[in-house]
Amino acid sequence: MRWFETLRDELLEKGLVKVKLKDLRLKEFEEISESLGKNLVTTKHVLNEKRTVQELSNNGLFGDGDVEWHHDWSYGRGNYFGTILYNVKNAHLSPTWFCDMSKAPKELKEQYRGACGTYAPPQHLHDTCFTPKQLRILEKQKISRDFVIKHHVTGEEILYCSFGTIGDHDWDIRPIREWVEENAVMHEWEEDDLLIWDNLKMNHKRVAFEGERLLWRTQFII
Ligand SMILES: [Fe+2]
Repeated sequence: MRWFETLRDELLEKGLVKVKLKDLRLKEFEEISESLGKNLVTTKHVLNEKRTVQELSNNGLFGDGDVEWHHDWSYGRGNYFGTILYNVKNAHLSPTWFCDMSKAPKELKEQYRGACGTYAPPQHLHDTCFTPKQLRILEKQKISRDFVIKHHVTGEEILYCSFGTIGDHDWDIRPIREWVEENAVMHEWEEDDLLIWDNLKMNHKRVAFEGERLLWRTQFII
């Protein structure tokens, strides 16, 4: 058994896993990603032959503006709810904030039981992340998700609200935002950092930065 094959269990238990890996090569990153679940094959900013590893940079995918609180893959079908990210260069220029939504208080969950949001890719990602065809499909799908969801593997109850990708709705979501802001934890990126998180649980955001910042990313099925 290879050392990284325990990461999937750790991820399901904790929601967010941090590992230090010096001079990680693309091939090793690919192997770790594949041990976590089926990888999403994508089109833009890909680095490997299998088209599963994407480059996130200040001048490519997710530029240098603010990235609002969100859950990755909120607007997509299938269970691509895992994200793995490696600091290739200068990730420290902008910390990432996380909030574990399975820890939301019962009363807050009750307030939104039965409520539902629809999700689509936000305008600012249109040109950088997707081809016109992918966009047409995602917008047509209009994925809807309940605010209170049950994790399909762990069974935990989660308060789900992806602020950056939610469409028109009639719900007052300010109380959720307040709780998220109060309970967020900041990850200050250091050299050799590899982060893996469960997007059903982990709401996350990043603020604007200046400079050259480079990370590798793969999304995978949980
Ligand atoms: Fe994200």
